[in-house]
Amino acid sequence: MCGIVGYVGPTRSDRALGVVMDGLTRLEYRGYDSAGVALVGDDEVVGQKRAGKLSNLVGALEAQELPLTGTAIGHTRWATHGGPTDANAHPHRGGPDRKLALVHNGIIENFYALKKQLLAEGVTFSSETDTEVVAHLVARACERTGDLTEAMREVVNTLQGAFTLLAVHADQPHVVVGARRNSPLVVGIGEGENFLGSDVAAFIGYTRQALELGQDQIVTISPDGYEVINFDGTPSEGRAYEVTWDAAAAEKGGYDTFMEKEIHEQPHAVADTLLGRTNENGDLVLDEMGMSEEELRAIDKMVIVACGTAAYAGMVAKYAIERWARIPVEVELAHEFRYRDPVIDEKTLVVSISQSGETMDTLMAVRHAKELGARTISICNTHGSTIPRESDGVLYTHAGPEIAVASTKAFLAQITASYILGLYLVQVRGGGHDDGVVEVMRELHQVPEKIQTVLDGMDRVKEIARFMADSRAVLFLGRHVGFPVAMEGALKLKELAYIHAEGFAAGELKHGPIALIEPGQPVFIVVPSPDSEHGLHGKVVSNIQEIRARGARTLVIAEEGDEDVVPFADEVIRVPRTPALLAPLLTVVPLQIFALELSTAKGLDVDQPRNLAKSVTVE
Ligand code: F6R
Repeated sequence: MCGIVGYVGPTRSDRALGVVMDGLTRLEYRGYDSAGVALVGDDEVVGQKRAGKLSNLVGALEAQELPLTGTAIGHTRWATHGGPTDANAHPHRGGPDRKLALVHNGIIENFYALKKQLLAEGVTFSSETDTEVVAHLVARACERTGDLTEAMREVVNTLQGAFTLLAVHADQPHVVVGARRNSPLVVGIGEGENFLGSDVAAFIGYTRQALELGQDQIVTISPDGYEVINFDGTPSEGRAYEVTWDAAAAEKGGYDTFMEKEIHEQPHAVADTLLGRTNENGDLVLDEMGMSEEELRAIDKMVIVACGTAAYAGMVAKYAIERWARIPVEVELAHEFRYRDPVIDEKTLVVSISQSGETMDTLMAVRHAKELGARTISICNTHGSTIPRESDGVLYTHAGPEIAVASTKAFLAQITASYILGLYLVQVRGGGHDDGVVEVMRELHQVPEKIQTVLDGMDRVKEIARFMADSRAVLFLGRHVGFPVAMEGALKLKELAYIHAEGFAAGELKHGPIALIEPGQPVFIVVPSPDSEHGLHGKVVSNIQEIRARGARTLVIAEEGDEDVVPFADEVIRVPRTPALLAPLLTVVPLQIFALELSTAKGLDVDQPRNLAKSVTVE
């Protein structure tokens, strides 16, 4: 949510602007309400900012004469305080001579009190943002201290809320100062140049050497190096690491959209997440669990906390982990968990699931769990991000960078990692059922190929989507692990195609939602394998009959060879046979393709749907 970039390098060149614009292009998924840059010239800071997408800023910059410089910052915004206007776009300026420029990701919770004070002292504001308050405060502190780093340090200690801040000042033209609390900031280490970014995508085209900053830290970068201090002024070091993916991974790679590319990367996302998890004996080895086997044996309950798509991955995990490891698993939306008094203690394992590792709601839930004494593990796709850093242990998904705002490949990787976690618990604690670890892992290793088969057979789904471009509402039904898949299918359609969509547990139908069925109403039904236990398959086939009898148009996702559904289906979309608990990795794929194609048919922006941002770093 909001992307920020900073750069210092060789003076008097056009590289600074190029690097920052490049970084903003890669970070635009974090917010696209407005964008802006500030360049430090001779004794002045020159800026430009525009509401709307980055292309508006590019146009404005082309029409302006810009100084050659070695120092620049940039911002792409997801609006919180103040609408998406030119005036509210970042950078914001401070000081009577506007020598300071500052960008911000997050929310300053005490901005109103600070603003009142500044207004009383005669400061005039040119925006409605919380950020401008900080720009004025840092500019004033700079006048007093003569040093941007010290000014930043003074000011951040008066702020409440979540923030990453970057500032430049005309009187110190060769530094960019960054600060972070509860929002992400990474340093990119180059030769004769250094970088700052909300995530490594900002500078991955220039360096793979990165430095992770801790909570409440300030970093000052110059062309020759960087210095890190804590908010109390004590020196610190940060943790250096090498980024393992390259710039090409963040490009579209021949696809029209990142979403299309990421959906097609799903076989790899699953395969890579499985990679390297077993030793030569076939035993699972999870290096970064942060808990001993003894501690894991003492756990008597799990709580999964997550938001949106990640929460649906958590729901799938519940079915699998309870079945395999016979340990009670609760799944809760992180923002609900955080504000109640959950009954948890040191025997509870709280598992957070997050693609970005920066979702504020999920981070706060993890902190809440820790305060209550629980052990915490995070399933996360972003190395070095805040949630895994603050958790006792981590199980990284290896989906690679997910750029499209709506999540696809990360979802499959999250489900895969949850399975691995469940199987690891079976290995450590023993399980209650006879689906052996080795056997499930063997089945899991076959899933990437099966996902590819689904992807290769999507022509009819695309036709259906194009035909349904004018739909007003679409329903999705599923039972067991098909229920979270139905909800994920509905979420994708809402997000990408702006169509009203609901996912229901098929068993709930008769308790109310069936009233929505009228002639022609399209309904997707995720059908479990005919091999499912407890007669589940037959129950769902009955549900299809019930809605068909009332005129629904039934779009059925069913296993190869499942002929029972055929008489009641307007369309049958086939997925390969696979064990019931693993089926979500296949059945969700046609629903993703459907939403993608329908959105494209409507001419919408698939990668950056309206009102959304990739990484929701505010509550
Ligand atoms: C939906 C989507 C969101 C995220 C949610 C959590 O397509 O992308 O629902 O899943 O905001 O984000 P992470 O996983 O980054 O914590």
